[in-house]
Formats: sequence, C-alpha cells, structure tokens
Amino acid sequence: MVGTEAHYSDGRYYDQVYRRRRNDIGFYTDLAVESGGPVLELGAGTGRVALSIAKEGIEVVGVEPMASMLERAEERLERLPRAARDRIELRQGDLRKLRLRRRFPLVIAPFNVWNHLYTRNDIERGFRTVRHHLQRGGRFAFDVLLPDPEGLARNPAKQYRGGQVPHPRDGVRYRYSEYFSYDPASQVETVLMDFEHPADPKRSFCTPLTQRQFFPAELEALLHYNGFAIIGHHGNFDGEPIGRATESQVIIARMRSR
Ligand SMILES: C[S@@+](CC[C@H](N)C(=O)[O-])C[C@H]1O[C@@H](n2cnc3c(N)ncnc32)[C@H](O)[C@@H]1O
Repeated sequence: MVGTEAHYSDGRYYDQVYRRRRNDIGFYTDLAVESGGPVLELGAGTGRVALSIAKEGIEVVGVEPMASMLERAEERLERLPRAARDRIELRQGDLRKLRLRRRFPLVIAPFNVWNHLYTRNDIERGFRTVRHHLQRGGRFAFDVLLPDPEGLARNPAKQYRGGQVPHPRDGVRYRYSEYFSYDPASQVETVLMDFEHPADPKRSFCTPLTQRQFFPAELEALLHYNGFAIIGHHGNFDGEPIGRATESQVIIARMRSR
C-alpha cells in the first residue's frame, strides 16, 4: 500500500525524523535481555531497536519488507563492533507470510508496525506468524497508537501547518504541513505529509502515511480471539495506565494455554 511504502522509502530520513524517540528502545532491550534471546523483531525498519538489543549481547533476527529501510540498517550495522554485528540477522520479508524454522522466547513489533495491518485478515495473519514463532511460555511485545477521537474527527480539507523541516539529503528547509483523513468503516487514517520547497514548487512533495487504528478493548478482543493472554496493556513504556493524554498502547502478551 502506498501509504505504508512512501513513508519508509528513505531510511536516513526516517532516522532523522524519529531520532528523539528513545524510551521504547530501553523497554524492548530490557525485555530482550530478560528473555535471554534470540529475539524476533517484526518490522525491524532501520534497526533502531535491533541494534540496541545486539549491543546488549542478545541475538536478534529482524524482518523488514522495505529495501530502503534495510539498506539503512546495513549502513548502521557497519558501525557496530564485530561481535554485536554478528548477533544480528536481517531479512527482507512480510511479517504476514514469515515462516522461519525456529522459535523464539520473545517476538517484538516496536513502533506502530501493527498499525500497518489494515484488514482483519492481515491482523490475523500477523498473529498467526507470532504464534508460529513463539516458544512455549514466550512473550509477544508490541506497541500501537491510541486512537485520538478529536484527531480522527479533523476536517480532511484543512491544512495543519507545522514548522520548517530540514531534509537530511540536501539540507533544504521545507515548509511542512499535514492533512488528516479517517475512514470510520475501516478505521484507517491517512496523514498526508506535505513538504513545500521554499523556492521551487517542482521540488515540493507529499508523503502519505496510512495507519489502522486499534481501540483498546478491540485490541484486547483481537488478541484474545487469536489465542493470546494479555500480560500488560499500558499507556506508555513506563507501565502507566492508558489515559486521556496517552499516545501509544504498549502490549505484552503470551499464547493462551488451551
Ligand atoms: C514506524 S516503523 C518501525 C520500525 C522499527 N520497528 C522501529 O522501531 O524503528 C514501521 C515498520 O513496519 C514495517 N512494516 C509495514 N508493514 C509490514 C509488514 N507487512 N511486514 C513487516 N514489516 C512491515 C515498515 O516497513 C516499517 O519499517
């Protein structure tokens, strides 16, 4: 889907935009160390989390469909000490289809990966993949957005102006704005990120980001009916409850015993 791919077509840009997002890295790395590894990361992106896990001495297999993100991950891997580099295996693939011949005590999908599963079929295929790869007693940890009712009600024709954004490739400061549209039937929101070049309209561009929204009770039901028991469902990476100011839902689950 274009709203998945466009946003991840430049790994270096991704790293620049999300460089301040760090507290999730500690959360997933602690879980990885606790598990003893190896860890399976679904939607590994540029290796933001996988590299940290490997640096802590834990083996990690990262699966990511976008070549642009994997290229950036490989670039970052080059800068790691040899021992840490050897603990990371990166594979190109779609989490819905992944079938490795090994099981893991921990499967993770950090930073809104599940928001890119748009239909119930996609979501159930994702859960099947997790079940296939979890060891007995293993845990599945992931985080998704908490839907914001006011945000979802925004007028799709309205332009929301942001500041100026320097592009990492050419340093040009683009004027940034966003448009939001939400389809209440599919629960899919599209954010159009508009980058206006200060001098040359031909160099302006627009990137869509499409994300399936999960309401908390719905997510719990999906997990339950797909064979999981919820160990934790919190509003941030410090274990605080979901509340009005919450942005992310952080979930730890395990397979339900039959
Ligand atoms: C916001 S990024 C998070 C990347 C990484 N986990 C991190 O924490 O930086 C979401 C990632 O999910 C990946 N993704 C989307 N659909 C996927 C799928 N079907 N299978 C595996 N990964 C997918 C995207 O390509 C993107 O790299």
